[in-house]
Amino acid sequence: MQNKVVVLGTGGTIAGSATSAQDGVGYVAGALSVAELLQALPGLDAAGIEAESLCRIDSKDMSHAVWRALAQRVAAHLERPEVAGMVVTHGTDTLEETAYFLHRVLGPAKPVVLTAAMRPASALSADGPQNLFDAITIARMGGVNGARGVVAVLAGTVHGAAALRKQNSYRVDAFDSGDAGPLARLEEGRLRSFRPWPDEPGIGLASIEPDAAGWPAVDVVASHAGVRAAAVDGLVAAGAQGLVVAGTGNGTIHVALEAALRRAEAAGVTVWRSTRCAYGAVVGAPDGAFSAAGSLGPWQARIELMLRLLQKRAGPARGA
Ligand code: SIN
Repeated sequence: MQNKVVVLGTGGTIAGSATSAQDGVGYVAGALSVAELLQALPGLDAAGIEAESLCRIDSKDMSHAVWRALAQRVAAHLERPEVAGMVVTHGTDTLEETAYFLHRVLGPAKPVVLTAAMRPASALSADGPQNLFDAITIARMGGVNGARGVVAVLAGTVHGAAALRKQNSYRVDAFDSGDAGPLARLEEGRLRSFRPWPDEPGIGLASIEPDAAGWPAVDVVASHAGVRAAAVDGLVAAGAQGLVVAGTGNGTIHVALEAALRRAEAAGVTVWRSTRCAYGAVVGAPDGAFSAAGSLGPWQARIELMLRLLQKRAGPARGA
């Protein structure tokens, strides 16, 4: 019987603590354990909930090594027949990156629900407890109501991993799903879904073996007024194998940056175009243009390109 939910902690503001309940910015992220976060949920039916701490970091410091360890732990728990779904507590700052990474690597049939908070646990009106409660509610639905795949729930809204974007630096309702719109809302413990949840298979854990230190170096560069090409040349000299340009508008690139990117391409670096815009995709493929990242934002496109380069390196026998 699938009746267990594993809550895996990685840190973030949701586990943050400040010395004053009025302090919403001067706190230590990841100060509290997952067990402490669960204890602070009034009315939670704790039966079947397992708590595990992977790390306690500020997600601005997220690393590929933590991602790899996280994917391995999530996959190991999901394989257990009694586990209905998982919750991952995380910082908001790189939530969309971790969500996309897990989505593309694992593509799980059970729900993997990421959640976070904009206010520390010590705040007068912390948002973490409701978000965590909601995440557990969804994880418990594994196999029911279409709940599956890697999603995030914040402020009562469920976002698919690929569409998730942090759009506000401070407000509690900081996330949206761009043009795609949210997957669902959770209202009084009930899901109101707007469309099917993610069901694409992942590329598989084998694709990210053996060691995160050996993953292809892929960097993001931005196109802007007065941009200097030296950043591109420097990254190529430092071993970049892929570059994602956060382009202006529809993925357009300053002429000075374009020349450096052409040099990079000639040296074997894969270059993709994305957009700095919060909404919309890079549309169309003008002759000779670098490949477009579609609707992926620069940070998710960076992950996609890194995974593609990893798969290419491993050859057709590896992966899924
Ligand atoms: C973090 O991303 O770990 C800190 C900021 C937050 O969670 O809102």
